Amino acid sequence: MLGKKNENQVTEEAVRAALSTVIEPELHRDLISLNMIRDLQIDGNDVSFTIMLTTPACPLRGKMEQDSRAALDQVPGIGSVSINWSSNVPQDQRISQQLGQQFRNTIAVTSGKGGVGKTTVSVNLAISLAQEGARVGLLDADILGPNVPMMMGVDQMPAPRERKMVPAEAFGVRFISMGFIVPPDQPLVWRGPMLHSAIRQLLQDVHWGELDYLVVDLPPGTGDAQLSLAQALPLTGAIVVTQPMEVAVMDALRGLKMFEKLEVPIIGIVENMSGDFFGTGAGERLANEQGVAFLGSVPLDADVRRGGDAGEPIVVRHAGSLAAAAFRELSQKVAARVSVITLGNKQNVIPIQMIN
Ligand SMILES: Nc1ncnc2c1ncn2[C@@H]1O[C@H](COP(=O)(O)OP(=O)(O)OP(=O)(O)O)[C@@H](O)[C@H]1O
Ligand SMILES: [Mg+2]
Repeated sequence: MLGKKNENQVTEEAVRAALSTVIEPELHRDLISLNMIRDLQIDGNDVSFTIMLTTPACPLRGKMEQDSRAALDQVPGIGSVSINWSSNVPQDQRISQQLGQQFRNTIAVTSGKGGVGKTTVSVNLAISLAQEGARVGLLDADILGPNVPMMMGVDQMPAPRERKMVPAEAFGVRFISMGFIVPPDQPLVWRGPMLHSAIRQLLQDVHWGELDYLVVDLPPGTGDAQLSLAQALPLTGAIVVTQPMEVAVMDALRGLKMFEKLEVPIIGIVENMSGDFFGTGAGERLANEQGVAFLGSVPLDADVRRGGDAGEPIVVRHAGSLAAAAFRELSQKVAARVSVITLGNKQNVIPIQMIN
């Protein structure tokens, strides 16, 4: 029992006890045991601290702030509460061990068949993550039909440095594509081993620098390129893009099963081109049936295509549109899921308490 004299004295212990009742909604553990509370300072009865998130694109900041304030309201005598935010993206340790690149997480974007919007999703996802403050790279692994340079509005990469390629940069995203290396009118014919070494080169012989997320845009299908990629680097997870009609679901399922077979975790399913024209709902149904996360629907919108054609993706060109909002929400869900996958991966030997 507290004596009358210090009844209204706010202590660090009391603040920590209150915050230990606040649960991080994705990781399902409290903020104290996750070591997310940093720089706790108490000045009289006023409290300030930083919440260290596992991604700058955290969708649940508002909830965590609300819950923290509600918990601290219960501390007798509490004065003002000031919350700062910072983030430190957890690291998929296998990537640096096996590849020697400083990528914290790698995200493959796939589908069973062509033309469903993999590149559109990859580009808008990468830009949205960068807009949230993450360090993002985009690898165009569609060696046969590279579309990333066009959608990013850049047709050349900078001159190489120290015999390594330097990624192009636009909208805060670093990216590399076979489209920079092979002229667009030259037909590309690859055999399996060449494909493998081309992908490895785009991963290794590039000054990527440090990245929180490397997004990898895959070619259509479930063949050599997917296999080469999965062998060339550890994938934190894969996003499966599908169209909303029933006939598209089988293709998406094939893409999903292939990554499951390769033991790549499924981040979730995105339904693209949703709306009156192609319908809506098949993506969510597939996600429920397969027991994987549904990451959201992106509407069919001519401005999405125009943005891609013009080299100014919709999240930049029409940031206020519904489609742009859908991509932003998608990017937050992806970031949250990636944190959960990476922190839950037993091969990542460093426990969360050690993350600093
Ligand atoms: N939500 C959308 N609304 C309208 N148009 C879209 C949408 N998503 C993608 N598109 C358009 O559809 C076409 C195909 O998209 P995209 O190139 O991203 O598909 P893909 O799956 O990468 O294709 P490929 O298999 O050939 O690599 C593009 O012209 C793109 O601009
Ligand atoms: Mg594509």
